[in-house]
Amino acid sequence: MVEQKLIDPALIPAHVAIIMDGNGRWAQQKKRPRLYGHKVGVESVQEVVECAGELGVKVLTLYAFSSENWKRPGVEVNGLMGLLKSYLLSEISKMLKNRIRLVTIGDTEKLPQDVREVLEKTIAETADNDGLTLNLALSYGGRLEIVRAVREIAAEVLADDLSLDEINESLISNHLFTAALPEPDLLIRTGGEARLSNFLLWQASYAEIYFTDTMWPEFRRQSFLQAIAEYQRRERRFGRTSAQLGSG
Ligand code: FPP
Repeated sequence: MVEQKLIDPALIPAHVAIIMDGNGRWAQQKKRPRLYGHKVGVESVQEVVECAGELGVKVLTLYAFSSENWKRPGVEVNGLMGLLKSYLLSEISKMLKNRIRLVTIGDTEKLPQDVREVLEKTIAETADNDGLTLNLALSYGGRLEIVRAVREIAAEVLADDLSLDEINESLISNHLFTAALPEPDLLIRTGGEARLSNFLLWQASYAEIYFTDTMWPEFRRQSFLQAIAEYQRRERRFGRTSAQLGSG
């Protein structure tokens, strides 16, 4: 494993978030239906989850279904829901063995009942695991998440449970779906596009962003290790100067 040697175990990002883009285009290039791309994409999910766990990443967030993805043709939406369900059913034993904890962010009430049931069961069964937290963004949208937080905060103010000067960054963070998770250190987008697409808008403020042309079905262990190696070469200044950080 040549690439793995390039990884500094002391600088592993605690939270990696991934926009898994390019499944449809990858399949179309091969003259196959879009769903075939999603299906092969599940294999990339399996490899990346395994690799992240081995490296000691604490949280891996995968953008599996956005709030906008409901607008896709019914056959694709149903296909994605089916893949998600079968992934959960087939991975539960591996999750328990590798101590993976499953959580979700997003409007999961909108998911079909059968998918919700499997999700809830998997979340409950893995709740005490202390390895990688696998966070699936499902029916997730960053703006909707912020609107939801603002509504909750406004309701507390109206009820006189909160004063205006108590509203600060950490209060807002605590009203997001990700309240219990650290902010992402590294955000990866595959598939050649360079945008955030409504993903973790608040949380990604200081994340290192890594764009790659590799389509998600081809983004495997080596590609993930390359992204981590690139992250480790970058200098994160959080608005300070290099000199303040003691590195320049
Ligand atoms: C974007 O590719 C990808 C998605 C909308 C879904 C990603 C889902 C999976 C990889 C499978 C199910 C997930 C799990 C966690 C088991 P796209 O179709 O928008 O690609 P395109 O830009 O080429 O059209």
